[in-house]
Formats: sequence, C-alpha cells, structure tokens
Amino acid sequence: MLPVVAVFALLVCITRSSTGLPFEQKGFWDFGKEFDVQDLLMMMKDEEDGSAFGEVDPQEQPGCPFGCQCSLRVVQCSDQNLYEIPRDIPHDTRLLDLQGNKITEIRENDFKGLYQLYALVLVNNMISRVHPRAFLPLGRMQKLYLSHNHLPAVPRNLPASLVELRIHDNRIKKVAAGTFSALGTMNCIEMGRNPLQNSGLEPGAFTGLKLNFLRISEAKLTGIPRDLPENLRELHLDQNQIQAIELVDVSQYRDLFRLGLSHNRIRHIEHGSLAYVPNLRELHLDNNRLNKVPSGLAQMKYVQVVYLHSNNISEVGVNDFCPTGFGMKKTFYNGISLFDNPISYWEVQPATFRCVADRNAVHFGNHKK
Ligand SMILES: *[C@@H]1O[C@H](CO)[C@@H](O)[C@H](O)[C@H]1NC(C)=O
Repeated sequence: MLPVVAVFALLVCITRSSTGLPFEQKGFWDFGKEFDVQDLLMMMKDEEDGSAFGEVDPQEQPGCPFGCQCSLRVVQCSDQNLYEIPRDIPHDTRLLDLQGNKITEIRENDFKGLYQLYALVLVNNMISRVHPRAFLPLGRMQKLYLSHNHLPAVPRNLPASLVELRIHDNRIKKVAAGTFSALGTMNCIEMGRNPLQNSGLEPGAFTGLKLNFLRISEAKLTGIPRDLPENLRELHLDQNQIQAIELVDVSQYRDLFRLGLSHNRIRHIEHGSLAYVPNLRELHLDNNRLNKVPSGLAQMKYVQVVYLHSNNISEVGVNDFCPTGFGMKKTFYNGISLFDNPISYWEVQPATFRCVADRNAVHFGNHKK
C-alpha cells in the first residue's frame, strides 16, 4: 500500500478548506476567515520563542491610544469607528490590529517609531492612499494584511522583512515592474479579487520574489501570467477568464505542488504542458470547458488530486489517469472528481482507476455536488 497522506505542511499562508468534497484536502484559503488575531499571536509566539515577547519594559509604559486595548505588546483597535491611525501607539508594539474601522488614508508618520512591529492588520477599512514613506519605519514587519480596502495599487516601499502580504479585494488594476523587487524573503502573496487583467501585470512585476504561494483568484486574467516567481509551490488562479494552458505558461514552474484553475473557461491544454510540472500533487480544473481528460496525467508520478468536475468531458480512456507500467506512479490518487460531465459512466472501464488509493476517492456520479 502506498502512503497517501499528503505532506503539504510547507507554507506559512495555509488556512482551512471550505468545500464539501469528500477528499478535499486542507490547505486552501477560506474566504470567510482570512486570519485570526489569536492565530497571529500564536505564530508570533512560535517565531519569537523565548524572546522578550510578553515582557513588560519597566522603564517605559506609554499610554494606550484612546479606543484601543493594549497588553503584552498587542494593540487592539478593531471596530472603533476610527477615521485615522491613532497617534501615540507604544513603540514596542508587535501586533497592531486596526481592522474594521473607517480609515481612508495612511499618512507619512502614522507608523513612526514602530520598528518592532511584527504584524499590521488593516483589513476592512476604506484605505485608498498610502504615503510612499509610510512603511519605512517598519523594518521588522513580517505580515501585512490590507484586504478589503480601496487601494488602487500595491503600496510602495514595503519593508524588506515582509513575509506575507494579503491585499485581497481592493481596486488594483496594475502591478508595476519592480513593485516587489526588494522583498527577497516574501513567502506568500494573496491578491485575489482585484480587477487585474494580464495587461495590468507589467513585465517584471514579480521580479525579485521567491514566493511559495501566490493567489490571484477572482480577477480578470485571460491567461496564466508570465514570469511569475520560478520556485512557486502553490499558484491559485481560480475564477478568472483563462481560456487555455500553453506550454510557455507552465514551463518555468518545476516546483509547483498545487495549481488551482477552477472556474475559468479553459477548453484547451496544450499537449505536453503537464510534463513541465512533474512535481504537481493537486490540479484543480473543475468548472471549465474541457472536453477530455488533460493529456499527460498518467505520466505524473506524484499527482494525487485532480478535479475535473463540471466540464464537458464525454469520454474517459482506460489510460487517461494511470500509467501502463507497474511502479511508474509514486503516489496513488486520493481524489478524482468527474461528476457533472456528459460521460457515459457505465462505459468507463474499472481499470481506469487502477492507481487510485481506494474507490471512494473517485467522485463519479452524474450529479452536481
Ligand atoms: C461540449 O462538447 C460537445 C462535443 O463533444 C460540443 O458539441 C458542445 O458544443 C460542447 N459544449 C460546450 C458548452 O462547449
């Protein structure tokens, strides 16, 4: 029996799964729960482990801004109807939570002196302007959460220490060349639900990044963007208008583990494309316009999960999923979805799924979930 336990605990940005497929694996973004201050505190503690976190500096106990609660270097000012970033935030603050306010602008000196800040939470505000020097003092900041604001662009001069940026649901139409150029330790960017077209991603937009995780779902992409960071392990481009996958689209991403392309308009996958991503574990192609199983799947040694439901696939060949030679596949499938396709299911030979871990792993009935 081959081990079928997926070992995906690689990334910082993982959260919980949300759909109800029986074999759904953990590790996908949960839109409802973008982050949790408690999780953040745990992460902070883990990463600090044994440092001064939690200690009270006896020399200086500056006041807590009005409307906020301050303890253990965490300043909580969420849902306070604030129109601007409060002044007098203690200089030793590690976590600043300003979510759910009415902040429209980040000014030049708003974060002055906060050189110990680890995480800044600004989600659910009305921020449309960020002063280009506003983030300069934040030399230790690792996590910046700007989702659900009105930003027209990724802010400039992000701190080089940044590891995770979430800027989901803003108004970004363009990512200029060099936007991320100084951010060599960045691991994860979530920038879905922005009105981004392929033409809005300037050549060089992602230069300098060594990302593990990139999500540009719910945008207006018509193709897989070119020149994304080469060492990407997860790429999520669901809910765009992508029509095809061509060799050049995937030829640079040998390390890709997960590729999410659900809810696009893909009709065509160029023959040989999958050979460029030999390490793929999960491929999500459900809710597209495919009329056959992508070629090359059977040659992929590690692929475990393939979503193909809600396409226009009318036939499944006996060698579409599994190799013909014994021992060619290193990990068996533990999830294949084919429901909601015009397949004559009784014509699919049982041997088609000979490299599947167990029969419950094939979701096959001709019905919607
Ligand atoms: C589905 O495939 C059939 C041929 O197999 C084709 O006639 C039909 O137009 C396709 N439907 C869509 C929505 O692409």
